[in-house]
Amino acid sequence: MPQNNQKSNVVSFSTNLESEKEKSGMDQIRIQGGYALNGDIEISGAKNAALKLACACLLTDEVLTLTNCPNTLRDMRSLYDLLKHIGVEITEDADTAKFHAASIKDKTAPYDLVRKMRASIMVLGPLLARHGKARVSLPGGCAIGTRPVNFHIDGLVAMGAKIELNEGYIEAEAEGGLAGGTYTFPRVSHTGTENLMMAATLANGKTVLKNAAKEPEVVDLADCLRAMGAKIEGDGTDTIIIEGVEKLHGATHSVLPDRIETGTFLIAVGLTGGELRLKKTNLKSLSALIAQLKDAGVDVTEDGEDVVVSRTGENRLKGVDIMTEAYPGFPTDMQAQFMTMLCLAEGAGMVTETIFENRFMHVPELCRMGANITVQGNSAIIRGVDGLKGAEVMATDLRASVALVLAGLAAEGETVVNRIYHLDRGYENLVKKLSNVGAKITRE
Ligand code: EPZ
Repeated sequence: MPQNNQKSNVVSFSTNLESEKEKSGMDQIRIQGGYALNGDIEISGAKNAALKLACACLLTDEVLTLTNCPNTLRDMRSLYDLLKHIGVEITEDADTAKFHAASIKDKTAPYDLVRKMRASIMVLGPLLARHGKARVSLPGGCAIGTRPVNFHIDGLVAMGAKIELNEGYIEAEAEGGLAGGTYTFPRVSHTGTENLMMAATLANGKTVLKNAAKEPEVVDLADCLRAMGAKIEGDGTDTIIIEGVEKLHGATHSVLPDRIETGTFLIAVGLTGGELRLKKTNLKSLSALIAQLKDAGVDVTEDGEDVVVSRTGENRLKGVDIMTEAYPGFPTDMQAQFMTMLCLAEGAGMVTETIFENRFMHVPELCRMGANITVQGNSAIIRGVDGLKGAEVMATDLRASVALVLAGLAAEGETVVNRIYHLDRGYENLVKKLSNVGAKITRE
């Protein structure tokens, strides 16, 4: 039973009421499995950095420029719609985007926009910090869990905000601005840390965030905020200290490479064999994954700004056990992809998901392809099989859908993945990137 650990008395919307159009999205991906991957793939800027970096534009009336920005991602499109609704002028050119929040038109983030993209909650801290007021729809849950935002709310209250929850909206005020405060996260929260860190940059006084998230995206955001004039230290550790300043100015910042996209392609080679050179990325934030991949028999090396991954056909993957944890532990966003690889490993592997309460929806679909997986609570035992068979499968959430694509690349015969609008949220040009390195994959 998903826990709803919101202190507030509002039960967050537990289902993401996708529109009929979204649900009926007939987009499908068709894959003929069994082809090794060989060649180069360019990694895009990180979705889970860019979404927050874009919201940082609300903290200044000057222009914020992001380069290496994954503008074509569906989640970025949704966020840009919201930022424009609020009054931000956005100009894009390839993977550069310029944001100018010179005049805020509307401090409300409406449900219809927020429900499409939960990370919209990231406008709450910046709007409140610079404009003293914000009305943001509770994002509601999604397929993988109830996704409460109580830490975001409690942290802002600790910084002097007056917050009420009315009709599914967070109504926040900070007359005279936020005051520096101390907040200890009851459990590590990636976006919670980022929301409060952004809010604290313009608060009166010093803010201390304890039990803070240490993801590389948090550090990337802190780097950008410092370029804008913020005073932040300790990012990347569990205690972040922010000295509030009068105002922030514009800046230009390059979005860091997407470590989850990188990890996804490492696992793709684990499944199909071959050799890929991943460009414009690095391994420094993937050590937990790399260690497990090497144990499983996948060879990964760094070569300058590139990562080279290979697996020759003869050595079969070996089963290993993984447990998802907050960074720098094994990333929950890599769990579905790694489980898929374990389906073809020799022996058994155990996967334990400790971050989200419902992140095994890829399991029944993998079993339809011949995988041998048993789920017990938040753990799954995967017993390796000799091969997977192509089938028609259904994507349910972003990382489960990419796991099904990976399974299709390695399966015998044809796989059709339905509802792939989930994929478009977090992977730029996935079909093109894979077909360029030998996959037999098309989009219909
Ligand atoms: C971010 O989600 C990422 N999203 C997720 O990526 C990622 O899986 C997650 O961090 C963990 O790394 C973005 O950055 C946009 P949390 P976030 O707050 O910040 C509970 C993907 O596939 N919690 O670290 O929402 C929460 O329910 C997505 O790209 C509260 O209880 O995750 C969860 O169990 C999926 N109250 C745990 O904490 C709160 O106020 C960790 O969540 C906040 C969180």
